[in-house]
Amino acid sequence: MQGRIVPANEAWIAEAGQMIRAGALVAFPTETVYGLGADATNGEAVARVFAAKGRPSFNPLIVHVSGIEQAVIIGSFSATARRLTEAFWPGPLTLVVPRHETAEVSDLVSAGLPTVAIRAPDHPIARELLKAANRPIAAPSANRSGHVSATRAEHVATDLGDSATLILNGGPTAHGLESTVLSLVGDTPVLLRPGAISIDTIEHVIGEKIDRATETGEHLTSPGQLRSHYAPRSRLRLNAVAWQPEDAVLAFGNVTQHPSRATINLSPSGDLIEAAANLFAALRALDESGAETIAATPIPREGLGEAINDRLERAAAPRE
Ligand code: TXA
Ligand code: MG
Repeated sequence: MQGRIVPANEAWIAEAGQMIRAGALVAFPTETVYGLGADATNGEAVARVFAAKGRPSFNPLIVHVSGIEQAVIIGSFSATARRLTEAFWPGPLTLVVPRHETAEVSDLVSAGLPTVAIRAPDHPIARELLKAANRPIAAPSANRSGHVSATRAEHVATDLGDSATLILNGGPTAHGLESTVLSLVGDTPVLLRPGAISIDTIEHVIGEKIDRATETGEHLTSPGQLRSHYAPRSRLRLNAVAWQPEDAVLAFGNVTQHPSRATINLSPSGDLIEAAANLFAALRALDESGAETIAATPIPREGLGEAINDRLERAAAPRE
């Protein structure tokens, strides 16, 4: 069954919806490119997406929704944001908005940022899948990191093979270019990634100029945003094997029990998927314990361990 390309008929879409709800990964066509989808509310399913992509860091993912009603449960939409969704949804426009603290979407989807990228795709199969799953679906383009985005089911099968339990075949995608990503987090809209909807069309609708992000491409918005949000207030000490009783401890696997102010084990059994799913919430909780130092025990650099270590190293880096 692994990596199986199936026709996107009613029965297979219903099956795919069940699989998403059960935490499996399903590749599906959108009007832009194929996505590798997971239940956005299931941290371990989202962690498996990062593992499948083989990316050495956690880049935040787009949450796919059926429309504005589902979107406003996850993020906060300004008047401008609403106007844009009325003009372009469903369609290839992704909006980055402030994320509600109460949103059930996994922290890993936003890679720990206080914002979230959301779009309502305009493809009958994607829309039917969202309905069948009845969950928001986090999905990056269904290609391995560094490869071009997949525009046919066969490309997904070659690139991601066994990671997707099912690949819904919708033939070649219409645009073949990813969605335009626009941030509405600051005072003025910022283009984070050019895509299927042109900037002029968007400017025309909102009657306002749009800034281009200085770092284009797959990069994040305002300089410094990344670093400051990954950094806890506490000092983070990596690869710790011993600590003081007043320290907080971010543990992994089977670690020796020394006294500590607070300890959270990302995965007592040493499972990197589980550890990734727990990472951001654990960092925040330990930070809130008020400890001056968080001691993090070693995490192997294989599979998702590479991305986890990347995040911890950023969090440990000296502040600007
Ligand atoms: O057309 C598309 O957008 C496709 C289909 C599957 O929907 N998806 C796609 O996803 O291209 P991905 O993961 O390959 O690209 C998502 C882009 C990345 O450039 C990421 O940095 C940006 O969106 N992004 C996601 N969440 C963000 C956030 N909270 N803040 C800033 N940028 C974000
Ligand atoms: Mg991509």
